[in-house]
Amino acid sequence: MSKFKIIGGTPLKGEISVSGNKNAALPIIAATVLTDEPCTLHNVPRILDVMSMVAILEDLGKTVVFESNTLKVSGSITHAVPSQELVRKIRASILYLGALLGRCRKGTIAPPGGCVIGKRGLDIHSDVFTGMGVKLNFSTTTYEAVLPDEQDSYLFLQEASVTATENALLLAATVSKETIIDNAACEPHVSDLANILVKMGAKIKGIGTNRLKIKGTKKLKGVTHQVVADNIEAGTFMIAALCTKGDITIKNIVKEHLITPTFYMNLMGAKPEFIDNTTVRVRYERPLKAPSRKVQVGLWPGFPTDLMSPMVVLTTQAEGNTLCHDWMFESRMFFCDKLVGMGANITICDPHRVIVNGITQLKAQHLSSPDLRAGIALVIAAMMADGESVIDNAELIDRGYENIDERLRNLGAKIERVSS
Ligand code: EPU
Repeated sequence: MSKFKIIGGTPLKGEISVSGNKNAALPIIAATVLTDEPCTLHNVPRILDVMSMVAILEDLGKTVVFESNTLKVSGSITHAVPSQELVRKIRASILYLGALLGRCRKGTIAPPGGCVIGKRGLDIHSDVFTGMGVKLNFSTTTYEAVLPDEQDSYLFLQEASVTATENALLLAATVSKETIIDNAACEPHVSDLANILVKMGAKIKGIGTNRLKIKGTKKLKGVTHQVVADNIEAGTFMIAALCTKGDITIKNIVKEHLITPTFYMNLMGAKPEFIDNTTVRVRYERPLKAPSRKVQVGLWPGFPTDLMSPMVVLTTQAEGNTLCHDWMFESRMFFCDKLVGMGANITICDPHRVIVNGITQLKAQHLSSPDLRAGIALVIAAMMADGESVIDNAELIDRGYENIDERLRNLGAKIERVSS
């Protein structure tokens, strides 16, 4: 176990490159199960969640070489029952069920683990699979799935679930009949998975929209693919620049994936400057004001739930009241207690809504994080607080942010990892 020690008060300055998108890399790694041919994935973030998905891939029998940010996967899987212990480490392991059904027409998986940010059921996954003709046997300890026959399928997702859409894509890519997914999630990471499946041989129409039409093939090909940039990491760095009154240039971004966070930052008077479609400069020029409307998470292209925790920290530095609303996750806002402990003026209205009254100077604290995104939000809070903060369980942040302490140090942050 390790922790971060952070001395606040230094503005972040300099250049930083955004990593590959965590939530694209995870389903793409699962997609390599669908072929026996070699796959080469570039721009894969070296984060703990990726390592967990790789460990499952190896357990299934694949050979994996991970050098720098390139992941080479070869060989065939030898069974369809991944280790329960590995599956329980990460919620995205549920994506192996779609991939195993695609490759072997069967799979057995333990209930997945993951960050505790609220009740996270698998109803939509179950709807997707049964809608495609899969026979499911979900018990408290195992999920068994078998696909007896291929069929044409029309799926209407009652919720536009990201990983359920991805599971449907993983299976549909191997089914020669037609699958239609209506009310599909259309986040950039879902599109990135669809794009790699097309390169592997599936025909997919409607990528980037909420209606996907898929005609697959049992024999998918090997592929070389560059994972799309992580829009959540990019948004996190934009917020960190403003909170620390810094001036940073963020490279390797996709401008159009940052439209909504940029909209709110503009409302607050921050004015991020896009140099081109892949680079943005964010500099603090004047005190921020509370946005003139509430910050509410939305399905893509709305404001991403995974950016809400850093956004709450940013609103502590904006003059006036901001209502922040995350209707997706029941526990997303629980970390606000920790910000209140640091001196923030936040009224917690209910599990989904907080009103932040800024501007407050935060003070250092000994903190621990309930989940990945709250963790990075607390790192940002600590970087602008008076004094030295300690954030326990740094590994939770390592799940989604590559080498975060060194990269922030390169921008001037006083952050140190201490192993215990
Ligand atoms: N939801 C609705 N209505 C909808 C869509 C979603 O109520 O139309 C609710 C769900 O019930 C659930 C929550 O919103 O409580 C998220 O649902 P979803 O099934 O989309 O989440 P997921 O597929 O399990 C992925 C990401 C999460 C991210 C969510 C939402 C991966 C591996 N995980 O999870 O990422 O928060 O989508 O965008 O892609 C993270 O990276 O920190 C993370 C938790």
